[in-house]
Amino acid sequence: MTKPNQYDLRDEGRRVMQQMKLGPNPVVEARQMMSQTILAHVLLGLSDAGFYEHVAGRETFSIDEAVQALHLDRFSFEALIEYLLGCGALVRQDGDTFGITVKGQRLFNVYTRGVLNVYLGGYNAVLRSLGRVVDGSLRLDDASLRRSTRHAAAGTAFSTCAFTIPDVFAAMRDTRGKVCLDLGCGTGDFLLQWVLQSPDARGVGVDMSADALRQARETALRWGVADRLSFHEAAVGPSPLAVPPGALDGVEMVTSMYMLHEFGRDGREAIVDVVRALKAQLPGRHLLALEVEACDPQEFAAQTPPPAHFGRLDYRLIHQLSGQGLPRGQEDWHGIFSDAGCSIVEPGKPTGGSLIYIAGM
Ligand SMILES: C[S@@+](CC[C@H](N)C(=O)[O-])C[C@H]1O[C@@H](n2cnc3c(N)ncnc32)[C@H](O)[C@@H]1O
Repeated sequence: MTKPNQYDLRDEGRRVMQQMKLGPNPVVEARQMMSQTILAHVLLGLSDAGFYEHVAGRETFSIDEAVQALHLDRFSFEALIEYLLGCGALVRQDGDTFGITVKGQRLFNVYTRGVLNVYLGGYNAVLRSLGRVVDGSLRLDDASLRRSTRHAAAGTAFSTCAFTIPDVFAAMRDTRGKVCLDLGCGTGDFLLQWVLQSPDARGVGVDMSADALRQARETALRWGVADRLSFHEAAVGPSPLAVPPGALDGVEMVTSMYMLHEFGRDGREAIVDVVRALKAQLPGRHLLALEVEACDPQEFAAQTPPPAHFGRLDYRLIHQLSGQGLPRGQEDWHGIFSDAGCSIVEPGKPTGGSLIYIAGM
């Protein structure tokens, strides 16, 4: 909705000039913010179009080859490539061949790709509709604002493989077993990394997203481990997991990465009920949960030195806007596990901005 201009642009212009004198320069800050936003969209677009896979492990690529291999729209692809050329992420070699610079390699890395997928890919619908959400013309629970689970799940896998999952594996070393049940397994990348570690490891994945599971099964085939991985579409909840008979046979440990907090949308007790149901169905196993640290905006702002980025704040906002439970503090998780009748085996090992908890069921 457009509104009549209510402020005197001459005054506003003078205010900008005054701020420029005082510094830091708000014009540069605004341009930087916008350029970063556009760059993020360019990179996510290329990620969605399969370009990352196309250039994986390569230092050069040609436009012709990429257009043909990925069936791209040449005009828009060239525009994105020229943008990245201008950003210093690419250098033109001969003809339509480009080299990826060190800066480009950093932009194309899996962590960056993961963060872009989670936020921009996963929550694009709500982020681009904030005006209508805030002015009340679109409700937050409108179906058009649902997250893209495939992006959120793939992005989580991309952004956790560098340091978080290795820390999870280290924590699992002290728990027992080779057969892992991963709840909310998404695109199955955690279980893939799990079985690739050892030839006698097996994995069972459960998720309610058919889309994510389709990708998980394809990935298992692609890596030749489909005989050691099985994926089941089912909702984790306060009732026993509805998976085919025998699907959980031999499961020795249970993992749940970035999922349990989601039940908090219905209150703390809803998480307790889910953990209690898991304990009833899989008694004696360890439940490893990976969860992002809680974030209080006021405490966040008061940190010294100031945080290098707003990652935890971003995560909190996105959870508020998408009707998920908010990230919780360590004591809260201990209480939840205890109330569900579990012991605390690992009280919270920090990894990045997340904590690894292990509860004895
Ligand atoms: C943030 S993603 C994390 C994916 C994966 N665990 C990882 O760390 O890469 C959360 C996943 O939990 C799944 N999920 C959420 N609630 C669920 C439920 N009640 N039952 C089964 N899966 C659920 C979503 O579909 C999504 O794939």
